[in-house]
Amino acid sequence: MADRVIPIPKEELLAKIAPEIENIEQKMREDLQNVTASSDPLLAEILNYGIFNGGKRLRPLLVVFAARLCGWTPKCKIDVYRLAIAFEYLHGATLYHDDVIDRADLRRGKTTVSKEFGSIAAILGGDFLHSRSMFLIGEQGGVEALRIFCRATAAMVDGEFLQLRNAQRYNLSEEDYFAAVKGKTALLIAATCEIGALAGGATVHQQRALADYGLSLGTAFQIIDDLLDYQGDSIKTGKAVGNDFQEGKMTLPFILAVAAADNEDRQRLLSLLEEQEYQEGAFEEVLAIIGKYGSFELCRKKAEKIVEKGVNGLKIFSGKECESILPFLNGLAVYVLARKV
Ligand code: IPE
Ligand code: IPE
Ligand code: MG
Ligand code: MG
Repeated sequence: MADRVIPIPKEELLAKIAPEIENIEQKMREDLQNVTASSDPLLAEILNYGIFNGGKRLRPLLVVFAARLCGWTPKCKIDVYRLAIAFEYLHGATLYHDDVIDRADLRRGKTTVSKEFGSIAAILGGDFLHSRSMFLIGEQGGVEALRIFCRATAAMVDGEFLQLRNAQRYNLSEEDYFAAVKGKTALLIAATCEIGALAGGATVHQQRALADYGLSLGTAFQIIDDLLDYQGDSIKTGKAVGNDFQEGKMTLPFILAVAAADNEDRQRLLSLLEEQEYQEGAFEEVLAIIGKYGSFELCRKKAEKIVEKGVNGLKIFSGKECESILPFLNGLAVYVLARKV
């Protein structure tokens, strides 16, 4: 039963997901080769550059596992891998665009698409991926899947707008932060689980539980991402450290530190964040103040609590699929919290 399920060890998780990732990679290669056969060669180059470069493939994996948990097997009519790659395309599209928005130079350990090919190419490449993702969702999942998918996409745009609005404010609350995270990251991850569930023939109850799990996982995923933006190793994450601070973005570690700090430290944090020009040692100073108030640890604890809630909701599942699939979903939850990449 679900409440006996414990996450599987990391090596086992990696070994079991490897063939699924291989399927996902192969599907994407075939599909992109087909659809770009008569396109401008630059489009194929941009897609190749930005998609096949070491992404974790978390979103398509969640589609496959959610579908399997709800009873999908390779004998079913739906091609769950085509459904899954749609999410990697949409994710890719958002990254192409996000790196224009955030003026980021590094992604997956390489120069970003926008920096390498220019913002126009990054925007157009992202548009192409977005359009292809909708086609695949409609083809495999029908109108209901498209409804869920488009709701998540619209929320993402809203989340980015909210973040833009938030960037002008220096009195952000945790609620403001969580509202932006829900829109820009968590609802898309919830949609992977919900559409996977739909493909597996889930009951309404099961679909809801998986969507809630995805929402929790997605929220924690972004919290950890924001922690890594302060504490990560750029070689491992493949992204620059300190980008959020440099962009004047108040993410959770910063918000928690501002709330906990004494007057002097609070003023200092805010004035460092507001400073437009690069200042030698500013990031290190911010790191030290956030560390002094234990806000990094608190941030991690909040992520753990959120994930726990999502994982607990999966206890409604039982049966054969549950025994074999739930440990993966639990394992992915543990991985999301522990990740360094
Ligand atoms: C990065 O997502 C964007 C966020 C929502 C934080 P991932 O960390 O899943 O990026 P890749 O696909 O593995 O590069
Ligand atoms: C990622 O936002 C969410 C998207 C909509 C792509 P971030 O800007 O926080 O993610 P990274 O750090 O660039 O991957
Ligand atoms: Mg961004
Ligand atoms: Mg970004």
